[in-house]
Amino acid sequence: MATRKKSGSAGAQINGKDIGRVLITGASAGIGAELARQFAQHGHRLTLVARRREALADLAEELTRDYQTDVKLVTQDLTKPNGPAAAVKAAEADGEFIGILVNNAGVVDVGPFAKADPDKLTALVDLNVRALTEMTARLLPAMIERGVGRILNVASLAAFQPIPSMAAYAASKAYVLSLTEALSEELRGTGVKATALCPGLTATSMGDEIQDQSSSARALPKEFLSNPKDVAAQAYRALMSGRVVEVPGISNQVTAAWAQVTPRWVTRYIAGMAARVKV
Ligand SMILES: NC(=O)c1ccc[n+]([C@@H]2O[C@H](COP(=O)([O-])OP(=O)(O)OC[C@H]3O[C@@H](n4cnc5c(N)ncnc54)[C@H](OP(=O)(O)O)[C@@H]3O)[C@@H](O)[C@H]2O)c1
Repeated sequence: MATRKKSGSAGAQINGKDIGRVLITGASAGIGAELARQFAQHGHRLTLVARRREALADLAEELTRDYQTDVKLVTQDLTKPNGPAAAVKAAEADGEFIGILVNNAGVVDVGPFAKADPDKLTALVDLNVRALTEMTARLLPAMIERGVGRILNVASLAAFQPIPSMAAYAASKAYVLSLTEALSEELRGTGVKATALCPGLTATSMGDEIQDQSSSARALPKEFLSNPKDVAAQAYRALMSGRVVEVPGISNQVTAAWAQVTPRWVTRYIAGMAARVKV
């Protein structure tokens, strides 16, 4: 676990080493905002990245008031070709360093692939895959050099199986899970650890969007959706203890385990049937 450094706003440490700032992408809403609250409660200094400046500023005000958190804001569209590079440059200005990277920003696209807007699909891959990869590649070498660091990549329960009607989204999250697992092995002995967070359907604006557009997701009563605050708390514990894959919630853990022991043709056939159900 991280410890709060005694010298005021100097931030938190891991294994006695200064961890610098925590950079969280997609911090203006949902799971990202709850992750920001978690890190703030544990005494971390934050750099919050998203497109909506006002939402970021409101959160920064809350965190400064409630936890005396030192918060820096970076307004950036990470789907832009230079978005991740610009975000890292702004985050590292004034000699700041990022010791914890949380790649949380993500979008979903629900519906038949053939009817999807190609530009929307490209933006999904740009954010969920390209931006996450580039942010990691740009920030990881300095973490290794300092001998301490953490990377939290937000994947999804959708990472464990193909999902007809969310084909590109599930594929993007399978990439995130695979990348993170491979990284966790590459990073052994470096002091840097990588964790993939795989939440199930969670009560955020993305959760609403999925339930609005997917009949099978709509069948799940609202009470069964995960709470973003609980997801963030579990993510924080998993990250700090160096867990490689974290699936919050018992029913989601059962689903992930089932997908891993069931032949792939069975999981995709059942997911295909669920996608075709009209309710
Ligand atoms: N909700 C679920 O059911 C669920 C389940 C499993 C996994 N997840 C994953 O959890 C993560 C967070 O999802 P959420 O449910 O919290 O979604 P959300 O409430 O819709 O929040 C998405 C965040 O991403 C940011 N974002 C979107 N496009 C961006 C862009 N082009 N550049 C920079 N930031 C951008 C948004 O900020 P701005 O609009 O201000 O840019 C917002 O802060 C995603 O990776 C998602 O795939 C969600």
